[in-house]
This record gives sequence, structure tokens and C-alpha cells, in this order.
Amino acid sequence: MSDRVPLLELEDVDAGYGETRVLHDLSLAIEEGEIVSLIGRNGAGKTTTLRSIMGIVTPTSGMIAYRGEDISHLDATATARRGLSLVPEERQIFPELTVRENLELASYGGADDVDSLSVDAALETFENLAEREGNAGSSLSGGEQQMLAIARALVAGADLILLDEPTEGLAPYIVQDVMEIIEDLNDRGITVLLIEQNVHVGLALADRNYVINQGEIVWEGTSAELEADEEVLDRYLGVTA
Ligand SMILES: Nc1ncnc2c1ncn2[C@@H]1O[C@H](COP(=O)(O)OP(=O)(O)OP(=O)(O)O)[C@@H](O)[C@H]1O
Ligand SMILES: [Mg+2]
Repeated sequence: MSDRVPLLELEDVDAGYGETRVLHDLSLAIEEGEIVSLIGRNGAGKTTTLRSIMGIVTPTSGMIAYRGEDISHLDATATARRGLSLVPEERQIFPELTVRENLELASYGGADDVDSLSVDAALETFENLAEREGNAGSSLSGGEQQMLAIARALVAGADLILLDEPTEGLAPYIVQDVMEIIEDLNDRGITVLLIEQNVHVGLALADRNYVINQGEIVWEGTSAELEADEEVLDRYLGVTA
């Protein structure tokens, strides 16, 4: 590892809901420009990790630093201003607004230091969306909604995108499209923290992977290392290699 400050660093983070502690001493680091995946079974704490980073859930102890600054106690509006963007499992687009309006709204709420993509540039990037720019969000397919949710993060000027199961429920050929979009984001210099239940998608995209189990990081390494580690795949991910 370099001695540069990581873009994002979690150090011994505990977090949960009310009395329920979900994350235990969770530590991870992401360098600028990486795609890092966080994988684990249902209920392992993946979404809670993203919510803690974003400031939707406040850690009860430990530290979350972004560009070397403590963001542990910032709320989601403040973290978005710094260039973090969460694309949640539910995708959270506005069903009654058109595709263009969804993007315009995102352009108001995002990062302060903007090298963000304009709405027009985003529509050029996502051809499927451009064809439907006047259609309501609710009329989009699952894959198109995912693309719109990712396009919103781009328009908001995100430097770090947190993707919560972007390929869930999508047909295989759409999964391929979404994977290409994630690679394209990364080529634009955007750092990605990717949650995937589909281990093969995570392995194909990620530079490094963390495995989370019962709120703790139990393994970390490259995709090649994880692919070769049948015990970890079987024990924590239920994947038979
Ligand atoms: N709002 C909440 N209030 C109370 N408990 C919650 C809440 N959200 C999640 N939990 C609990 O926290 C634990 C971790 O949930 P989390 O959603 O982080 O898991 P996950 O790894 O994202 O799972 P999945 O793969 O199903 O999305 C689970 O036991 C879950 O029941
Ligand atoms: Mg989840």
C-alpha cells in the first residue's frame, strides 16, 4: 500500500439501529480510482456499511475519513456536498418525473466543487435514457432505472459512488450493460464501492474485495485471490467454485 491518504477509510466502525449493533470494528480503505467490492450474505451488514459512510446511519464508535477528513458525524446532505453518492438498492428515482427532470433535480443536490456532468452530457452518455428523456421514471425498465440512478450520481458530481446491488433483479444481458457502465464511470476517474450478491459481477469488476460476515470484515484480497479461495467462497458466500 502507498503512504498516500486513502480516498475513504473506515476504522473500527461500530454502527446499527437503536439497540441493535450491526457493524463491529469494521475497517476498510479505498484508494482513489479503485473499484472495491464488498460482498457477503443477506443481512451481513453491507447496506448498513454504505449508510454509515453516507451519513444516513451514524456510527456509535470508530472513524470514517474522506480525503483524510473525519466525516463520521456528517449527515447525508453534507457527505453529498463532499462528492459522495449512494445509489441505493431501491434505486430511488422519482417515478412521476421524466428522465430529464430526474437528472435536473440531481444536478441541484450534489457536490460543491463541481466537475459534474451536465444533464445533456449525461443523456449523451446513456443512449437508452436519451431516447426516453421525456418519459416518466415509472415507465422505465429495471435496467433503465438503474442507469438513471447511476446517471443521477454522475450529474450530482460524485467522486465516490456507493452502489448497492446494482444488478439485482436484472436480466443477464442488462447486467452486462450495467457492468460496462460501472467500468465507464471508473474510466472517468470515479472511485466505486460496489456491493454485489452476484460474486461473479463483483469479481469481474473489482480491483480488490472485502468479504463481510455478521458485520465484520473476515477477508480481503484481489479478485484472483478470492477466486482461488474455495474455502472463503463456500463459507461466507455460499459459492461453489
Ligand atoms: N432499519 C433497520 N432497523 C433495524 N434493523 C435493521 C434495519 N436495517 C437493517 N437491519 C438489520 O441489520 C442487519 C444488516 O442489514 P443490512 O441491510 O445492512 O444487510 P445487507 O448485507 O445489506 O443484506 P441484504 O443482502 O439482504 O441487502 C440485518 O440483521 C437487518 O435485519
Ligand atoms: Mg443490503
